[in-house]
Amino acid sequence: MKIGIIGAGAIGSVLAGKWAKNGHTVSLANSRGPDTLADLATKLGVRAVSVEDAVKDVEVVVITIPQKNVPQLPEGLFRDVPEGVVVADTGNYYPSLRDGAIAELEGDQTESGWVAERIGRPVVKVFNSIISHSLDQGGQAAGSPGRIALPIAGDDARAKEVLIGLVEELGFTGIDAGPLSESWRQQPGSPAYCTDYDEAGLRSALARADRARSVAARNTTEKWLPTLSKDTTPAEIVKRVREIEDPAG
Ligand SMILES: NC(=O)c1ccc[n+]([C@@H]2O[C@H](COP(=O)([O-])OP(=O)(O)OC[C@H]3O[C@@H](n4cnc5c(N)ncnc54)[C@H](OP(=O)(O)O)[C@@H]3O)[C@@H](O)[C@H]2O)c1
Repeated sequence: MKIGIIGAGAIGSVLAGKWAKNGHTVSLANSRGPDTLADLATKLGVRAVSVEDAVKDVEVVVITIPQKNVPQLPEGLFRDVPEGVVVADTGNYYPSLRDGAIAELEGDQTESGWVAERIGRPVVKVFNSIISHSLDQGGQAAGSPGRIALPIAGDDARAKEVLIGLVEELGFTGIDAGPLSESWRQQPGSPAYCTDYDEAGLRSALARADRARSVAARNTTEKWLPTLSKDTTPAEIVKRVREIEDPAG
């Protein structure tokens, strides 16, 4: 497939490298321009492009930038992008740690619903609920015991199918997590969020989600994350996240 990725950080670069290795044609953009991505692009086997070019002549666009930066994307970015192009959003809202308070997200709107409104285009929420280390290292063949499952929420069945395929080929079980209005079930603080559950565990976690409790757990996580040392292992992070978000799990 032809895939454009906006955001070349922890998540964008892992996705880009893995999909390129699998034979997809990947273009990668950041906020500072393609010249600043030349070395990374060579290493990953992708093309460094501008944000505007990342949405041109592609079948899938992945937006993987901080939530607060979404309104900085160029005005009308998707105006000429054909309707059939799938747009995925990996974003999460961290008001204290990174994004500042966003009024709509302090209310009822889902994080990805807000993104869709900002860019004027439906999105699918995916890859938001796995830490970059697990995304990079945690993939396993289909059928492996404990294979990590990822939720995929959106309103377009075909778009979700495309993304389930792209999730599965990275070694994760893709689960249709319902419409975008239900995507709060995989937002930060929810039992499904960065807990690396397998399919049965994820389905149960999505069903058990409680929105108010998730916000409280996210607030706790926001205080805890800055205390991590460089010696904290990814396994310790996932274990602590499970304790905070899903004490009953
Ligand atoms: N890190 C994780 O483990 C993880 C896991 C799941 C989901 N997420 C979520 O996924 C999103 C990306 O996270 P990340 O950790 O990969 O971020 P990151 O490492 O901080 O990288 C952010 C990337 O976004 C680019 N960017 C920022 N504003 C942009 C703009 N206006 N236009 C184009 N590119 C822009 C940055 O480019 P410049 O460097 O040029 O500014 C950078 O390449 C966030 O919403 C995050 O919450 C993260």
